Amino acid sequence: MSKVYLVGVGPGGEGYITDIARRLIERADIVVGYKHALNAVRDVVNSIDGYSNSKMAKGKDVRIITLKTQDDVYAQVIDDLKGKDKVCCILFTGDPDFSESEIVDRLVTLFAGNGVEVEIIPGISSVQVAAARSKIAIDKSTLITFHITGSIDREKDTLANALRAGRSVILLPRPWDFMPQHIARFLMDEKGIDANCFSVDIYENLTLSSERVTRCTLVDIPDREYSDLCVMVIKPMY
Ligand SMILES: C[S@@+](CC[C@H](N)C(=O)[O-])C[C@H]1O[C@@H](n2cnc3c(N)ncnc32)[C@H](O)[C@@H]1O
Repeated sequence: MSKVYLVGVGPGGEGYITDIARRLIERADIVVGYKHALNAVRDVVNSIDGYSNSKMAKGKDVRIITLKTQDDVYAQVIDDLKGKDKVCCILFTGDPDFSESEIVDRLVTLFAGNGVEVEIIPGISSVQVAAARSKIAIDKSTLITFHITGSIDREKDTLANALRAGRSVILLPRPWDFMPQHIARFLMDEKGIDANCFSVDIYENLTLSSERVTRCTLVDIPDREYSDLCVMVIKPMY
């Protein structure tokens, strides 16, 4: 029976891939992922520059997906796995169980419905790395992702309520309509939060050579362009 592993490959830096993820990807017949996730394991699947559905030197079948092509690629993968004895790894940045549920839930149903077993392999999340960089405990923080499709009203309320309750918040902004500067404006203008009372760490491209941190208060978040790979930590100062 074929098996699909939904594998977390960490936030992008090489040192953040677990041994089990590495071993499974090495052994897999098919590896599927977005470019950023595939890049995180480029040493495992060999150079993936210019790849697109190409057979790799190690005999691995690597399939790059985009938002547009993913449904077709998954349908093809099902065809290639059904009734066979193959292994496929679908890669996720960070941990598949954080801010990926829209796609993970869909894949679990899709593969199970086609008789393909699914297992999730956890990875190191970008929020874990941000918590470590900011030296704050995840269990004493509120985690929020705005990286979802559709309405984010509920998440916005959760954010304001957590800050009012004096909790730290670790959040993923939404490219490009709810980025750090929009979040600050929303909290001040719509929720009446006193932005002088919160410090902010904004992490871009965590664990990559282009990693960058901006430390400021909520009131003076620079109004500039941020990377889409961005985690924001908001901490009460008093
Ligand atoms: C669809 S979510 C996936 C989150 C992922 N499952 C995780 O656990 O980190 C994509 C968002 O994760 C965050 N992210 C992923 N990798 C990152 C990195 N290296 N640096 C900063 N943020 C990152 C960004 O906010 C990005 O827009």
